[in-house]
Amino acid sequence: MASAKSLLLSSLLLAPAVSAQAYDSGSRNEDAFSYVQPLNTTILGQYGHSPAVFPSPNANGAGGWEAALAKAKAFVAQLTLEEKSDMVTGAPGPCVGNIYPIPRLNFSGLCLQDGPLSIRVADYASVFEAGVTVASTWDKDILYKRGYAMGQEFKAKGAQIALTPVAGPLGRSAYSGRNWEGFSPDPYLTGVAMEESIKGLQDAGVQATAKHFIANEQETMRNPTFNENGTLTDVTFEALSANMDDRTMHELYLWPFANAVKANVASMMCAYQRINGSYACQNSKALNGLLKEELGFQGYVMSDWGGTHSGVASIEAGLDMNMPGGLGNYGMVPEAGSYFGGNVTIAVNNGTVDVARLDDMIVRIMTPYYHLGQDVDFPTVDPSTADLNTFSNRSTWLREWTLTGEASRDVRGDHGALIRKHASEATILLKNEKNVLPLKAPKSIAVFGNDAGEDTQGFLNQANFEYGTLTAGGGSGTGRLTYLVTPLDAIKARAAQDGALVQQWLNNTLIATTNVTSLWIPKLPEVCLVFLKTWAEEAADREHLSVDWNGDDVVESVAKYCNNTVVVTHSSGINTLPWADHPNVTAILAAHFPGQESGNSIVDVLYGDVNPSGRLPYTIALNGTDYNAPPTTAINTTGVEDWQSWFDEKLEIDYRYFDAQNISVRYEFGFGLSYSSFELADVAAECLAEGLTTAAEAQPIMPGGNPALWESIYNVTISVSNTGEVAGATVPQLYVTFPDSAPEGTPPKQLRGFEKVFLEAGETRTVGFELMRRDLSYWDVVSQQWLIPTGEFTISVGFSSRDLKAVTTITPVSA
Ligand SMILES: *[C@@H]1O[C@H](CO)[C@@H](O)[C@H](O)[C@H]1NC(C)=O
Ligand SMILES: *[C@@H]1O[C@H](CO)[C@@H](O)[C@H](O)[C@H]1NC(C)=O
Ligand SMILES: *[C@@H]1O[C@H](CO)[C@@H](O)[C@H](O)[C@H]1NC(C)=O
Ligand SMILES: *[C@@H]1O[C@H](CO)[C@@H](O)[C@H](O)[C@H]1NC(C)=O
Ligand SMILES: *[C@@H]1O[C@H](CO)[C@@H](O)[C@H](O)[C@H]1NC(C)=O
Ligand SMILES: *[C@@H]1O[C@H](CO)[C@@H](O)[C@H](O)[C@H]1NC(C)=O
Ligand SMILES: *[C@@H]1O[C@H](CO)[C@@H](O)[C@H](O)[C@H]1NC(C)=O
Ligand SMILES: *[C@@H]1O[C@H](CO)[C@@H](O)[C@H](O)[C@H]1NC(C)=O
Ligand SMILES: *[C@@H]1O[C@H](CO)[C@@H](O)[C@H](O)[C@H]1NC(C)=O
Ligand SMILES: *[C@@H]1O[C@H](CO)[C@@H](O)[C@H](O)[C@H]1NC(C)=O
Ligand SMILES: *[C@@H]1O[C@H](CO)[C@@H](O)[C@H](O)[C@H]1NC(C)=O
Ligand SMILES: *[C@@H]1O[C@H](CO)[C@@H](O)[C@H](O)[C@H]1NC(C)=O
Repeated sequence: MASAKSLLLSSLLLAPAVSAQAYDSGSRNEDAFSYVQPLNTTILGQYGHSPAVFPSPNANGAGGWEAALAKAKAFVAQLTLEEKSDMVTGAPGPCVGNIYPIPRLNFSGLCLQDGPLSIRVADYASVFEAGVTVASTWDKDILYKRGYAMGQEFKAKGAQIALTPVAGPLGRSAYSGRNWEGFSPDPYLTGVAMEESIKGLQDAGVQATAKHFIANEQETMRNPTFNENGTLTDVTFEALSANMDDRTMHELYLWPFANAVKANVASMMCAYQRINGSYACQNSKALNGLLKEELGFQGYVMSDWGGTHSGVASIEAGLDMNMPGGLGNYGMVPEAGSYFGGNVTIAVNNGTVDVARLDDMIVRIMTPYYHLGQDVDFPTVDPSTADLNTFSNRSTWLREWTLTGEASRDVRGDHGALIRKHASEATILLKNEKNVLPLKAPKSIAVFGNDAGEDTQGFLNQANFEYGTLTAGGGSGTGRLTYLVTPLDAIKARAAQDGALVQQWLNNTLIATTNVTSLWIPKLPEVCLVFLKTWAEEAADREHLSVDWNGDDVVESVAKYCNNTVVVTHSSGINTLPWADHPNVTAILAAHFPGQESGNSIVDVLYGDVNPSGRLPYTIALNGTDYNAPPTTAINTTGVEDWQSWFDEKLEIDYRYFDAQNISVRYEFGFGLSYSSFELADVAAECLAEGLTTAAEAQPIMPGGNPALWESIYNVTISVSNTGEVAGATVPQLYVTFPDSAPEGTPPKQLRGFEKVFLEAGETRTVGFELMRRDLSYWDVVSQQWLIPTGEFTISVGFSSRDLKAVTTITPVSA
């Protein structure tokens, strides 16, 4: 394999010669930096160097955007050079990102808004469940409906572009600070989640943005550091470089972004950090090569805020829009100029950038705009947005913005009911001894924990406050609540129906240090509900995988005296749950970040109005130290390039790692309980394609890549039965084990199908999983394509990654 990889890299290195200077004098052109290295066979055997891929491919409207592409071209034809430069450069204004209007052409500009679970800079908007939460539903319909409802709110507030959904971070490390904004460390599950979310958002008329492209797997050192005065040319450390091989790139990190492109996503946001030595927003291999050439992406690449580190080099490498446009920290200083803006005008005039490249940038920006009909009757930007926007408040505006229409529009509709349903469907029942759940009209309930009650520091969820329930994490992915149903409120309301006694203790320090029998009256409560929370936020990685605020001690203290301790976690993601085997901890529910209807959604599950059907979108290990691939949090050297993160675990992240290394876990990927019981039987596989060959027929590239990769070639069917007493949903999951002829490093099994199936008690249904060519292929680094290995595949269907019930084999291509 090593020699094969060397061959590949050397062939890529023979691409047209381009020197660093040709791309951007004075800027930090990492692409060219790695490219102009003399041929070094030691380095060639490794990875961490990004080959140059030029020029940037032009959009051609493939995938149904032909008519919109023609309109975009007609629009571009009317622009002056200065207007063209404005079209690719963010400017301060009412939204988090803004493109100036061109009134002459009746173009009212573009409004870009955060984020993954809410339109963040807004009033009277909903706070939806987080990405990790909705991923826990394993429900394609819910993923779509959430996207659609969010899209409606962005549109009604006048935002053409929603900065969501997230597939980077994928979740390489359990500790990464932004995993909760995305879905799952499994690329297949995240791929489906991306596709459904994007379809939902775009069907509602807003442009979705798949982010952060790519390998944004940790927060620590995601950006460069500058000298004490913040001078952009005086770098102390370049940002972390995420270094991975080509196969890992394709089979893990690029996989869900391919789904995004397949779903015709309007835009891609490139990441902050470097990839194989080159900044993500000027990495020509990633943007020109992988995204625009291999995947046939037709939309535009926008930078993360301040992720642009050069002008010409970034433009040539495939960046189409610089956000938020200015220089300085996070690009927030527009008066200091821009790598784009006026510099684009200069670069075209001095012959460095071909105007055809600039035109393609704008064509890519305007094609989805026309395709989604945003040129006709799109709502104005809600004027209240400008007052709430702290990113570029009015004092920073360089031009006046005319804001019209009703201010403080209420865009929430009936989404509260939707969020309540989605969050209860997302709640994962991890333990339920003696069937203590659902609750059977208890008359005495004790509620514990600082996560149960009202938020005490307001609703702007940007800090890890001690008192109050957690509905979302922090940073650009948070949301501003307009109301909050706390667990305590909802429990009190529900318990009142039974005339129950409800007592509460919300001070974790007090609970953890007190003999709780001295607290409650008049005797042992029938159930003790413990609410725990775990914060995470953008720009910081998690320091541990425990629950916060002495939560582990709170559980131990309660369980010491209460033989029916039911624990609910509101968490950013993985918690190790060291007390999970405590005999008095009778039930555990992982509810993640549920959004504004938190209390109602958990009460629906606790009391059995909703039968839990959430499934873990990641693995819960026995110990935090069991996880591999930790973030790189320190280096001992001072070289400007020295922050490096080597993805040496390759494909072995999350369950792929625990399976490959045969490590016991506490709760495996895909696990979750129900109040009912289910069985699987009669697995069968039907081949849908004749004469399959190892390599796919090369067809013209469409969004998503070679269309042959997306063709269903097998249909695996299985019958699923609800053998319990109550109606409910389960999630049969299909895992593929590749034949031995697949290259070394292929994980023991990989998720390649799942379906959420609702069944009445006693009902049986047949479920089909269509396997696409990509599902049965590995990425061959030598021939640079997906190949089906010869020999027999094992197809296992079960209720989790370690609860496989039915097995069959298929041989798509004989040896
Ligand atoms: C090749 O790269 C290796 C590893 O970085 C380095 O030690 C060696 O000096 C380089 N050789 C040449 C000829 O530059
Ligand atoms: C930072 O600015 C101060 C004040 O202008 C100057 O004295 C100092 O030398 C600067 N530091 C660096 C590293 O340039
Ligand atoms: C061009 O970019 C440089 C940084 O490379 C910046 O200092 C300058 O202000 C920019 N010019 C314009 C017109 O934005
Ligand atoms: C052309 O303009 C760009 C942008 O300001 C600049 O980076 C580049 O060095 C200029 N090239 C020449 C040859 O003047
Ligand atoms: C101008 O734009 C508005 C909406 O932005 C649209 O309704 C109207 O038809 C447009 N007019 C022309 C002449 O294109
Ligand atoms: C929480 O309990 C601890 C221990 O009893 C006490 O010191 C602290 O003041 C309490 N905090 C509040 C806000 O009451
Ligand atoms: C806790 O309090 C109960 C009731 O007062 C008492 O029976 C028990 O011994 C106490 N436990 C400890 C460890 O002091
Ligand atoms: C479980 O709770 C009961 C009180 O209901 C208590 O007597 C027992 O010691 C507890 N068990 C453990 C292992 O703490
Ligand atoms: C807890 O202990 C009480 C009193 O011994 C008993 O009635 C009840 O069934 C126990 N609850 C559980 C869940 O074991
Ligand atoms: C977790 O592993 C570490 C390192 O092996 C060990 O020190 C620690 O005791 C373990 N914790 C638990 C709860 O097993
Ligand atoms: C830094 O040095 C310390 C002490 O020698 C060592 O334990 C640690 O592993 C080093 N860290 C890195 C990232 O090299
Ligand atoms: C796969 O099987 C399911 C269940 O029988 C069926 O509904 C579906 O149409 C099948 N798909 C194809 C392509 O045959």
